[in-house]
Amino acid sequence: MSRRAYAPLAELRLTEHVAKLAEDHPPIPLDSVDFGVRRPREFEARFGHVLDYMARVELEVDRNVLELITMIPNPPELDRHFYADVWQPQEIQHGLILDRLQVELGRRPAETDLDSIGAKLRILGALSHIGAFQDVCRMLYYLTGMATERSAVLAYNLLHRGTLEMGETAIAHTVIGQIKRQEPGHYAYYQLAARALWSQLAGWQRWLVRLMRGISFAPVGANNNSQKADFGDVLASLGIAYDTNDFADQICRVEVELLWARKRGLKAPDYVTRALREAVDLARERAHLPHLHR
Ligand SMILES: [Fe+2]
Ligand SMILES: [Fe+2]
Repeated sequence: MSRRAYAPLAELRLTEHVAKLAEDHPPIPLDSVDFGVRRPREFEARFGHVLDYMARVELEVDRNVLELITMIPNPPELDRHFYADVWQPQEIQHGLILDRLQVELGRRPAETDLDSIGAKLRILGALSHIGAFQDVCRMLYYLTGMATERSAVLAYNLLHRGTLEMGETAIAHTVIGQIKRQEPGHYAYYQLAARALWSQLAGWQRWLVRLMRGISFAPVGANNNSQKADFGDVLASLGIAYDTNDFADQICRVEVELLWARKRGLKAPDYVTRALREAVDLARERAHLPHLHR
């Protein structure tokens, strides 16, 4: 492939951004964390399952890296450097800290899937040996990254507030506070990358991105009905189950601007609002009919 992965100016901005992230945000040292909880039973009852969901998603970045290697076999060096050397080490540490916290609260550690790669992804990966198709997969990766990181920013902000409200200041400051500071930089990377690549894509590539995004969108970490219901529970505990449309608008603002703005205004696309509502519905259904679910 002789084409550049990014236009020179975009590449410069992204390079500087990654260097700054690496410098300002080393993985959080475990000895900087205070796991002291004043009222463990109450805290576990309110936020234990939220910690579990987030710990799992953070730890599953190991699988996400395998998925990236499969789906984007020849990544731009800048992307590879970002996800392998900066992003993954930060996220894993988030996962380890949150998982340790839930164990401290008497819960079982998160059940993670660290290595299964679906057949669909392998097919995409095979097609991605064609450079122009790989750019379609790259765009899907940046869109997923934006929605995921924005969800993380919002969720950690709400969890931080809730933790402070409960008077758990050690957890709020040294666990959630430290983690939440590292998420906006991830979001910024994907946003810069998405804007840069979108401006380079041809009409047929954009068409394919829209099509595939609509088919494949899922809330972060929600890959089956049980995980979707778990996600719905998280939304409920963070107080966003009644306003999923607003949450949807916030997690895909740039996606809407790039992919859909002219057709739909600034509202989130249906595939996002529908997926969030489905998660909330599945959680409610499970709460009422637990015997239908494992
Ligand atoms: Fe994280
Ligand atoms: Fe992140």
